[in-house]
Amino acid sequence: MNRLQVSVQSSLDVPEAFEINLVQDGMVPLGGGVPRDDLAKGGGFSGKSGQTLVAFPRDSEKVTLFVGLGEHQDKESFRVAGAGAIRALAKDVRVALLSGHGVPPEFLAAFTEGAVLGFYRYDALRGKGFDRSSLQQLTQLVIVSDSADQLAGVVARAVSVANAACLARDLINEPAATMTPARFAEIAEEIASSNAMTCRVWDKAQIESEALGGLLAVSRGSVQEPRMVKISYRPGERTENAAVALVGKGITFDSGGLSLKSGEGMMTMKTDMSGAAAVLATMSVLGDLGVGVAVDGYMALTENMPSGSATKPGDVFIARNGKSVEVLNTDAEGRLVLADALSLACEDGAGEIIDLATLTGACVVALGREIAGVMGNDTATIDRVLAAGEAAGEPLWQLPLPDRYKKHIESEVADMKNIGAPGAAGTLSAALLLKEFVGDTPWVHLDIAGPSRSDSDERYFRKGATGFGVRTLCAYLEARSH
Ligand code: BES
Ligand code: ZN
Ligand code: ZN
Repeated sequence: MNRLQVSVQSSLDVPEAFEINLVQDGMVPLGGGVPRDDLAKGGGFSGKSGQTLVAFPRDSEKVTLFVGLGEHQDKESFRVAGAGAIRALAKDVRVALLSGHGVPPEFLAAFTEGAVLGFYRYDALRGKGFDRSSLQQLTQLVIVSDSADQLAGVVARAVSVANAACLARDLINEPAATMTPARFAEIAEEIASSNAMTCRVWDKAQIESEALGGLLAVSRGSVQEPRMVKISYRPGERTENAAVALVGKGITFDSGGLSLKSGEGMMTMKTDMSGAAAVLATMSVLGDLGVGVAVDGYMALTENMPSGSATKPGDVFIARNGKSVEVLNTDAEGRLVLADALSLACEDGAGEIIDLATLTGACVVALGREIAGVMGNDTATIDRVLAAGEAAGEPLWQLPLPDRYKKHIESEVADMKNIGAPGAAGTLSAALLLKEFVGDTPWVHLDIAGPSRSDSDERYFRKGATGFGVRTLCAYLEARSH
């Protein structure tokens, strides 16, 4: 785990540092560092968002990096600039310096967030000949500001949140061969104990004896044992019920089960625990962020595999809350494990529930690879989650949860079936099934099947896991603390 170090200083006295200059579209420099007139000739640099150029500014012999902010400056353009600058310098420079004079603190925080996220690489599996230092000399970003004391807090917060997202990425990028349910649960226990949180892990025997029927049904085909994990964060050692429960889908590999996916379809399915990873990574940082409300995190962990012991289409199981579910497609497994985790959160008296799941391919069809779908049973809670996503820069879009489509999940033999009507609103029928397990508890569901993975190194993402959801959850829980 190689993370970018970030510090805030009041003096410019950083020898051998390489300076970053922020430039607005049309070559207007933001706060000093006038670019040379002929910069545009040097590689077509014009200050577009994330664009970079290494050059000598006029009146200076010091070589600097120009990074574009685009036409409109907002937190996202600063995130993108942060990632662009760090990536442009990573290979050749040890320390990067940004002068923060005159730049609003929230923009410097966004720049920092983008820098840490953009610096991330997943190199754990490179072989013997791999030399990271040939790709990354950079270790440190220094921000210089007159008001260093005030800035330090918001920058530290940005670093914590971005590092949490990087932790989620590490968990997700690790192959399913080693990132098994048992391994994930072990990591959760370690994270809980090093952050003074309590952790309960249900092993297979307890999952059976406590009737977590959905989790059991999905795990039946796998040689890996399932786990349910609950981490409890209680600020000030209070003992009340959780104000907020976070619930994550943790399918460490989704082959589809007997309703087997295509080779192409299962290629990325080690990432089907992105919801659980986002929950664990968020829990890991609540103390650092000073979150003031009690939070429980539930992670439902299993593989979804075909075998002689696997659940078969047509089988019926009884979920934790006593409702029966007919499994007609074993690839619609996420809703089954979430059902039990949602029931546990309700039984434990959570004030409200937010779940995250790479739940449906239909959501990718509807909203694409960059936007998560939001559904729920409570307008106020939905609106707060949407606001948190907006503040965090994670795009969310609300979809309806119409009672009229409950007929889509009616079963001939059981209380419900696990698929909807063919080719019709698959994201909504999945969420309508989840709704059967939350009772009256305010609940919001995020379908992150699209944005949990990136196909390229664009903006502050790397190809692979994005850690989507962590930044929204952090922003939500911070806002809930006030
Ligand atoms: N994990 C998948 C959803 C998914 C698809 C996530 C693509 C990320 C990228 C989920 O378990 C699944 O397979 N859902 C099925 C449901 C269907 C069988 C009703 C789907 O979306 O096809
Ligand atoms: Zn599936
Ligand atoms: Zn799945």
